[in-house]
Amino acid sequence: MKNHALPRLDKDDKMRQRLLPFCRLGPGEIWSDPDRGHRVGCVDATNSQHILQLMDGQVAKLAIQDPPYNLVAFATQTIADFIAWCRDWIRTTNAALDANSSLYVWLGADQNEGFQPLPDFMLMMREFKEFQSRSLLTMRNQRGYGTQKNWMAIRQECLYYTKGDPSFDVQYTDIPKVLRGYYKEQNGKKTENMERSKSKNIRSGNVWVDVQQVFYRMEENVNGCYAQKPLKAIERLVLASSNKGDGVIDFFGHSGTTLLACDRLDRRCFIADIDPIYCEIAIRRLERWRKFGKLGWQNSNPFEKELQLGMRCEV
Ligand SMILES: C[S@@+](CC[C@H](N)C(=O)[O-])C[C@H]1O[C@@H](n2cnc3c(N)ncnc32)[C@H](O)[C@@H]1O
Repeated sequence: MKNHALPRLDKDDKMRQRLLPFCRLGPGEIWSDPDRGHRVGCVDATNSQHILQLMDGQVAKLAIQDPPYNLVAFATQTIADFIAWCRDWIRTTNAALDANSSLYVWLGADQNEGFQPLPDFMLMMREFKEFQSRSLLTMRNQRGYGTQKNWMAIRQECLYYTKGDPSFDVQYTDIPKVLRGYYKEQNGKKTENMERSKSKNIRSGNVWVDVQQVFYRMEENVNGCYAQKPLKAIERLVLASSNKGDGVIDFFGHSGTTLLACDRLDRRCFIADIDPIYCEIAIRRLERWRKFGKLGWQNSNPFEKELQLGMRCEV
């Protein structure tokens, strides 16, 4: 197997200095997709001016936000600071959303630290009267962490809120229905489970066990990214809570999963990331999908060409 893995790009300063010259966006700059009108901004999610520029007069029907929330990223922040920071990007998100729209927020609960920040975030969200709580989704991870003295931690949480009265399309998993013999009367007729169903597959509820966590053996894996969400999960949210042609926002773009999902599903995407390297990766991922039909860089990485050339020069 070829191995061109990159280190975690937010942590390796030497590698960052090598890659930054290849990034087409600098802080405050926005890339506009000439083909389908997506926009990628190297901007701060909490800065309302930046977000106004990114949105360019448009509003979105759906927001999928996946902020950094782990202990490493916020080692120096108190929970109060973190929630104050969240309040700021919820404000910019609210301003970029249509009167009838949906908001999803991926956020963890640290079981060793009073389950923060999830409950604190939920309480903060109650300040925003526009948003109605709708669901708490749980996605099962295949790999977990834990000790022999606790339940292995294998969940990822995602909060679902709505503003106004947005559309919602029921989604189905790939899991076939097998349970038979559940009878119910419908219009005076005794019907069996299968007769009543709209699909041969199980409906997607708020616990997802059918989504594979991204790991290095998967085609969609993007080397160098440390928090990539599975495309299947993001596409499920996009399909449930937006329609073709709608605007979708993601202010923590990272590997560009939401951008890719929107391109594949004919939505218009507005993504931000404060880091020029992740903006470049997201744009390259879109371009690679369009050119080669590939979802990521299994056995390779987004800067493979430049790094190989660089290595040759250094020899
Ligand atoms: C958890 S990752 C998002 C993962 C993404 N959903 C995916 O599937 O690839 C968080 C991202 O937020 C970015 N970020 C952190 N602070 C930010 C800010 N203030 N504004 C915009 N982006 C920020 C980080 O650079 C990082 O790439």
